[in-house]
Amino acid sequence: MNILGIETSCDETGVAVYHTTRGLRSHQLYTQAATHAEYGGVVPELASRDHVRKLPWLIDAALDEAGIVAADLDGVAYTRGPGLVGALLVGISTARGLAARLGIPALGVHHLEGHLLAPMLSDNPPPFPFVALLVSGGHSQFIEVLGVGQYRLLGGTIDDATGEAFDKVAKLLDLPYPGGPHLAKLAERGDPLRFKMTRPMVDRPGLDLSFSGLKTQALVQAKKLAVDGRVGDQDAADLAAAFEHTVAETLFIKCKRALAETGLTRLVMAGGVAANLRLRARLAQLDAELFYPPLAYCTDNGAMIAYAGAQRIHAGQADEGYPGPRPRWPL
Ligand code: KG4
Ligand code: ZN
Repeated sequence: MNILGIETSCDETGVAVYHTTRGLRSHQLYTQAATHAEYGGVVPELASRDHVRKLPWLIDAALDEAGIVAADLDGVAYTRGPGLVGALLVGISTARGLAARLGIPALGVHHLEGHLLAPMLSDNPPPFPFVALLVSGGHSQFIEVLGVGQYRLLGGTIDDATGEAFDKVAKLLDLPYPGGPHLAKLAERGDPLRFKMTRPMVDRPGLDLSFSGLKTQALVQAKKLAVDGRVGDQDAADLAAAFEHTVAETLFIKCKRALAETGLTRLVMAGGVAANLRLRARLAQLDAELFYPPLAYCTDNGAMIAYAGAQRIHAGQADEGYPGPRPRWPL
């Protein structure tokens, strides 16, 4: 089966074709980062308009790259939520129109299921069951994954998501949007041990996370260091490194706990922050088998939606009626 996947939940327009036996056939992505950069964050209305502009072209390009035409498709999967409602609607209506025209099933997919299953697109896919640490701009959760659709939430952030904290600290250091990767780059030439930061919630039992206090620690430190409202270059690098180091240490402790509590030995790290190399290096020291999505499929993309949709459509699932977008949707 050839399944088209469409992702438009936030500021990336992603389209891909996944074949249920031959694997990923194509992957097209347009990132709107430049559109939103001057506002320092995603502007929902601009995101919707950009999806409208780019999506038809990306679908054509994904079909071309896969060497097929629309009539060769057997199903269309799209991100139904969570995400920005206007952005989601663009993907939903496009997917559904295309499926109706072709007389094939359409299926709304959970964005986080896409992230969770993205490691399946790697050369070394994790066997079930595993613990997933999902760390993105909108979510930070530990999930026990027993199979496709069999998920148990173990814990999550009580305030900011990990990527959100990266982005906010990056912003206070005057780094461009989206801040996470820029902060990671700056941190490479910083001393992670110059500023001591408290690791949030590690002394409390359980698997909940919190990042807003850590962000405040960075803010207080930045204010102390600022001269004429600006943090000097090496100071900023040291602060970035300390923040990143503290996030990595905190997640290391929590991952160890998640593995111990579930008795599982495989850990999957997914979502945009899974691209962070310091975090990867630290988690590699866990006594567990570690899995990641390929770097290109850590951040939002159509391939993970095509994959998750393909598993479900292959099993006979399809939308019933015309389900609407779910901007907030627990997994
Ligand atoms: O999964 P994603 O593309 O979108 C959401 O579903 O949220 O994740 C985007 C988040 C942003 O906060 C971005 O700053 C962060 O992932 N991110 C990183 C890195 N690359 C992306 N954070 C830290 N280090 C990175 N290398
Ligand atoms: Zn995402």
